[in-house]
Amino acid sequence: MKVPFGNMKLHYEQFKTVLDEAVARVMASGYYILGPELEKFEKEFATFLGAKYVVGCASGTEAIYLALAAADCGPGDEVLVVAHTAVPTISAISMTGATPVFVDIKASTYVMRESELESKITPRTKVIVPVHIYGHMAEMEVIMKVAARHNIKVLEDCAQCTGATYRGATAGTIGDWGAFSFYPSKNLGAFGDGGAVCTNSEAEYKKLIMLRNYGQSKRYYHDIVGINSRLDEIQSAILSAQLPYVHELNERRRAIAARYTAGLKDLVVTPVELPGFKHVYHLYVIQTPYREELQQYLLERGIQCLIHYPIPAHLQQAYSFLGYKAGALPTTEHIVKRILSLPMFPQMTDAQVDQVIEGIADFYKDSRYVVDNAEAGSVVKAYGEGQVVS
Ligand SMILES: Cc1ncc(COP(=O)(O)O)c(C=O)c1O
Repeated sequence: MKVPFGNMKLHYEQFKTVLDEAVARVMASGYYILGPELEKFEKEFATFLGAKYVVGCASGTEAIYLALAAADCGPGDEVLVVAHTAVPTISAISMTGATPVFVDIKASTYVMRESELESKITPRTKVIVPVHIYGHMAEMEVIMKVAARHNIKVLEDCAQCTGATYRGATAGTIGDWGAFSFYPSKNLGAFGDGGAVCTNSEAEYKKLIMLRNYGQSKRYYHDIVGINSRLDEIQSAILSAQLPYVHELNERRRAIAARYTAGLKDLVVTPVELPGFKHVYHLYVIQTPYREELQQYLLERGIQCLIHYPIPAHLQQAYSFLGYKAGALPTTEHIVKRILSLPMFPQMTDAQVDQVIEGIADFYKDSRYVVDNAEAGSVVKAYGEGQVVS
């Protein structure tokens, strides 16, 4: 039996009835842009998050861009962000003309190392962008305190963590804005591109509504410079149809993760869920010093694994102009050589999960590959943080 990394076709089959009905309804309605389906989804998603307002837009990248534009981010401003993220987080910052300033991550949960933030703040720092990577949120309480001390705004990149929580607050609702991606494989995905920004501020909401629609306050009255970034009616209806199932799908992801961890914790470094956090496992990422060998071995057994992400943003060619050299972000650079994302999608069967576990166990039977007991057992050294997180 093959184990693909993901399987959107199975997802479609699971929700075919409600999805087909949603698409047919929109096709027959005569409204395709900025209509009732978008309005409905924005209200429903706001309720789901516990946020006052949601503004749909064309992608996760543009959700980040729109929130930064709402913060009046531009040339000369600095935005604090991690380099261990999907590069679009950084593209969105560059789209505003602002400069990304990179902060290292924590080795335990791979999110922004909040203890390093203050040392990177300058009079030009405008926004902090913590990325809730893989489905585990950043330490928002500390980040919000640092931001408040320096009068800086916070934009949560929630692309990978729809439904994750931190002490009961849903991802996106703690910062000034939360940016979401509805890329098809996300925890809530469209069947095409899509994104959204949430906020609790009416003023920000009104600005975002204009920014996504050519800067118009009403038709042909352009109060500010905006773009075209709208979530269309078909994608809105598709998202509304799936929203009632997000918690259930996240629970399935968590069950798969628990099964993986039980089977792998004595072999490799498994993901950490810190107390007070709810991880939604957009990705299940392990660490091993034998990453390439293990990936190839599993592939030969029909198991597809991926690497998120092999090159951190500060070492990408596109960002070489920022002047970062290898060694600038030690934890980021250490883990990118070791991380491996195992197959993870809600429709995965327990038998498939067991097949991956068995594959990894068999790999380690080869005497060339030594289990490092100090690392395995879900114990991760938090590099430079002077603590061990288990
Ligand atoms: C952390 C993160 N930020 C931003 C994005 C960009 O989202 P989109 O692909 O919808 O533009 C993604 C998706 O790849 C992501 O994973």
